[in-house]
Amino acid sequence: MSEQDDAVSDGEGHDHSEKVIMKKLILATTVLTVVAGVALYLWFMPGYYQNYAPEQPIPFSHQRHAGQFQIPCLYCHGSAEYAEFASVPGLETCMNCHTMVLPNSPWIQQVKKAYDEKKPIAWVKVHVLPDFVYFNHSRHVSAGVQCQTCHGPVETMEKVYQFSKLNMGWCIDCHRNNNYLTPSRIEFAKKRDEMRGAEPMNPVLQAMSHPDPHNADISCSTCHR
Ligand code: HEC
Ligand code: HEC
Ligand code: HEC
Ligand code: HEC
Ligand code: HEC
Repeated sequence: MSEQDDAVSDGEGHDHSEKVIMKKLILATTVLTVVAGVALYLWFMPGYYQNYAPEQPIPFSHQRHAGQFQIPCLYCHGSAEYAEFASVPGLETCMNCHTMVLPNSPWIQQVKKAYDEKKPIAWVKVHVLPDFVYFNHSRHVSAGVQCQTCHGPVETMEKVYQFSKLNMGWCIDCHRNNNYLTPSRIEFAKKRDEMRGAEPMNPVLQAMSHPDPHNADISCSTCHR
């Protein structure tokens, strides 16, 4: 009696636990696959991370334009000085030079064709902050932070890449430690103070031109509104 019971319950128990194990296995495999999938997706996602350097539709070289020919950054990215976004120049800016410079290059012919047809070139964005972060170029540029402090030596780049981490720690580190000043800026501030002598510059003018170095706000609402 008890033997039979044992045998039956054994059999049932065995069947039962086999099912449970199978279920657990299926569950574990599913979870693992999903996790691995997400991880792989995040890893290979054409995304925005340090050193990200996407292929561009026209191989525009900053090394050539901003380095070799020393075209100022603001000639092409003028809005960085007065607006939230730095924006990429329109094709009319390119054609200012390229009606004359290398008109027979196949790349330039592609630029000219797009210009004539009024079709913008679909440059691939390199830097993107999440939507919940507020960032304003003009505030940084007018405070004397150089493009290169955040974007690295762009004038040496054949293809632009994301030089900085662009994470929250990176923003806060500079805001807290006031570490955005280059030696030439410090030299400039010193000279200006000498020239100014006893008479301090009009505070409004001073804020508009080259404000003295000071820490930027690190309260949450500065960057998250
Ligand atoms: C002759 C025009 C021109 C000049 C001068 C120029 N740029 Fe650009 N810049 C472009 C174009 C066009 C793009 C878009 C194509 C690309 O990413 O290569 C671009 C892209 C960029 C990007 C990447 C934008 C993104 O998608 O996130 C940065 C950063 C940048 N430029 C910074 C600079 C800096 C700093 C300088 C000066 C050292 C400079 N540029 C000089 C035309 C110019
Ligand atoms: C201020 C003048 C100037 C502006 C503005 C300018 N370029 Fe150029 N570009 C040059 C010069 C100079 C060269 C190099 C010529 C050489 O090497 O002989 C050049 C070279 C190039 C080349 C290489 C062509 C090849 O076949 O080697 C490309 C592509 C190019 N520019 C694209 C652009 C684009 C796109 C823009 C607008 C975003 C632009 N340029 C704006 C002056 C300019
Ligand atoms: C304090 C750091 C900082 C400085 C200084 C700075 N940038 Fe940027 N730049 C950024 C960040 C962050 C982004 C990404 C912005 C976004 O996604 O909203 C960016 C994006 C860009 C872009 C892509 C278009 C856009 O506005 O999103 C260009 C072009 C650019 N910067 C050029 C410049 C140039 C040229 C200068 C100097 C005149 C400059 N930047 C100075 C941090 C900086
Ligand atoms: C290399 C230094 C540096 C880095 C990096 C930097 N900032 Fe700033 N930030 C400044 C300075 C300097 C000011 C101007 C302070 C002033 O004029 O009061 C400023 C001001 C600001 C302001 C106030 C502007 C306004 O309109 O109220 C915001 C918002 C801001 N930064 C956001 C950011 C974000 C977001 C990042 C990162 C993506 C960042 N900053 C990275 C130096 C930096
Ligand atoms: C100087 C600018 C700045 C300030 C000040 C700031 N943040 Fe951020 N924060 C950022 C940026 C930039 C990101 C996006 C980081 C990224 O994409 O890696 C971010 C991301 C975040 C995230 C999302 C984190 C994640 O992993 O997605 C949270 C939450 C956050 N911040 C909370 C805060 C709080 C709370 C404060 C105040 C104590 C604060 N932040 C102050 C710039 C700032």
